[in-house]
Amino acid sequence: MAKKPRIVIIGAGMAGLTAANQLYTCTSSKDLFELCVVEGGSRIGGRINTSEFGGDRIEMGATWIHGIGGSPIHKIAQEIQALDSDQPWECMDGFLDEPKTIAEGGFEINPSIVESVSTLFKNLMDFAQGKLHEDSASSEDVDFYKIAIRASKICTSNGGGGYGKLSIGSFLRQGLDAYRDSLRGQEEHQGYGIWTRKLLEEAIFEMHENTQRTYTSAGDLSNLDFAAESEYRMFPGEEITIARGYLSIIEYLASVLPPGLIQLGRKVAQIEWQPEAHKSLENGDATRPVKLHFCDGSIMYVDHVIVTVSLGVLKAEIGQDSGMFNPPLPSFKTEAISRLGFGVVNKLFLQLSPNHVEKGDNTTTNNNFPFLQMAFHPQDSELRHKKIPWWMRRAASLSPIYSNSSVLLCWFAGKEAVALESLTDEEIMNGTATTSSSFLKQPHKVIKSNSHEVCNGNSWGSEVKFTKVLKSKWASDPLFLGSYSYVAVGSSGDDLDTMAEPLPKIGNCESSSLHPLQILFAGEATHRTHYSTTHGAYFSGIREANRLLQHYHGVGV
Ligand SMILES: Cc1cc2nc3c(=O)[nH]c(=O)nc-3n(C[C@H](O)[C@H](O)[C@H](O)COP(=O)(O)OP(=O)(O)OC[C@H]3O[C@@H](n4cnc5c(N)ncnc54)[C@H](O)[C@@H]3O)c2cc1C
Ligand SMILES: *[C@@H]1O[C@H](CO)[C@@H](O)[C@H](O)[C@H]1NC(C)=O
Ligand SMILES: *[C@@H]1O[C@H](CO)[C@@H](O)[C@H](O)[C@H]1NC(C)=O
Ligand SMILES: *[C@@H]1O[C@H](CO)[C@@H](O)[C@H](O)[C@H]1NC(C)=O
Ligand SMILES: *[C@@H]1O[C@H](CO)[C@@H](O)[C@H](O)[C@H]1NC(C)=O
Repeated sequence: MAKKPRIVIIGAGMAGLTAANQLYTCTSSKDLFELCVVEGGSRIGGRINTSEFGGDRIEMGATWIHGIGGSPIHKIAQEIQALDSDQPWECMDGFLDEPKTIAEGGFEINPSIVESVSTLFKNLMDFAQGKLHEDSASSEDVDFYKIAIRASKICTSNGGGGYGKLSIGSFLRQGLDAYRDSLRGQEEHQGYGIWTRKLLEEAIFEMHENTQRTYTSAGDLSNLDFAAESEYRMFPGEEITIARGYLSIIEYLASVLPPGLIQLGRKVAQIEWQPEAHKSLENGDATRPVKLHFCDGSIMYVDHVIVTVSLGVLKAEIGQDSGMFNPPLPSFKTEAISRLGFGVVNKLFLQLSPNHVEKGDNTTTNNNFPFLQMAFHPQDSELRHKKIPWWMRRAASLSPIYSNSSVLLCWFAGKEAVALESLTDEEIMNGTATTSSSFLKQPHKVIKSNSHEVCNGNSWGSEVKFTKVLKSKWASDPLFLGSYSYVAVGSSGDDLDTMAEPLPKIGNCESSSLHPLQILFAGEATHRTHYSTTHGAYFSGIREANRLLQHYHGVGV
């Protein structure tokens, strides 16, 4: 009796479970493969980690469906009725409207000042993403379009290495300069306490840059490639969170698989594969070319392995002498892995002290802690509040997870996100409370367009206090070593395609005894246009499952 091909999927995250689901549902009636998923951790979901805090369901990892139009995640969520719940959930009311933008020192900034910088920033990003075109722009947008064109031209001519080296960071900065030139003379030196108009604009612009750092995971936007930004695709429609938790999607994908197919606590130490046809198979199972070594010392012979570990894990493995791949990955693979970016983004949840909860209503109100957008003082000067810790200074916002919730959420990126992981809860509560108090405590000095006034009505009124915190730790968890991928300056979309190529390299297998498709690659970082997302991971899982299905269909099994 011929042996069934044995397929092992490494990783029970979105990509791995989607591949398993596809392989299993497409062949279960034919009983074609021996299939299993091996997961190094003690839970399924990977970078999807639905959790609970202060009685509310929250997400430690993937949070949003980025556009519901055409998203396979949204389709599943609808089918399994995961989009409604009696219990409140994170961001159930979307992005809270009407953010309150406050400048360091407690100056509430007039919305018209915030809006002009926010519009500039949005238009610059739309331009970079290929969404802003001169013909479709309204007359006001046309000015921004000219600013953006000028910014990209200046960057290109200064780039030293041409278009491919232009970063989003330098493009944005040129855009801000061009914008300032277009306003030259207007209100330039007007003062508002410690603030001038120019400093305020700078601070608001930086605030948006900080949000962009969390969207992309590029800790430094000058390392985020400009040209690749326009290849990234978003689905149309609103962005929503999943009422029953992102994990409900994962559980659904896993639910069709027979018990035992997913093995937890099975960390792979090494993948021994056969890149050369002439090398005889010296293993105990001569027909299966790949030998998996697990951390517990056990081994397994397989025909195909689908690797879904994060780009962060791959980067760490190729940097080691005896890494995960034996023999090591060929250079076309390791070069793509090294060039692409993989950053750190962390989420911090904070429980407001009940002192702030209005009497008579225990949990549902928070005394209206606002959707606080923080414009930090851009210069390292004595005007800065001394007690605000450095790791808070690039957080863009702090806001309740839904209207009136007493749980607040703050996103961190880059080295601030890394630092957060090793701080104690006390240090975090102290630093965040000091920061938010300094923004909210004083009677607000409202910055209007030409003067500032003191106004008592709007302030939080007392010291902000927190009673507990919960934070994600994506960088220090050895199963992830970061959050999601981005196209770094020096890499391109081609590298994402290279990430997806199976081994041995296509073309090397023909006319030889070499086993094809020994190692396949799926995961968020293998999708050229939807990298960094759950749906990108989903599509990559389908892609690699179909690659194997087509392979076997082709030989008439
Ligand atoms: C903070 C944060 C916020 C995010 N927000 C969003 C969002 O709003 N919307 C969105 O679409 N996406 C978001 N993402 C990205 C999204 O979570 C990921 O793109 C997606 O979940 C990745 O799935 P994956 O299957 O490619 O990888 P993973 O989920 O990383 O799965 C890989 C699995 O491999 C396992 N593994 C690793 N090494 C080994 C080994 N040696 N042996 C065995 N198993 C191993 C890991 O434990 C893991 O379970 C966010 C991510 C983070 C961290
Ligand atoms: C407040 O909490 C108490 C117990 O903790 C509970 O009995 C009461 O119903 C709660 N009140 C409201 C308005 O939620
Ligand atoms: C909080 O930080 C301040 C300095 O920023 C320090 O003086 C104080 O002792 C800290 N408190 C705690 C409880 O750590
Ligand atoms: C939040 O609280 C305010 C006043 O405390 C109230 O007017 C508002 O309706 C509440 N919003 C929600 C969504 O509960
Ligand atoms: C996943 O969530 C749990 C809390 O439910 C937390 O302890 C764990 O650290 C999270 N994982 C990561 C990598 O943040």
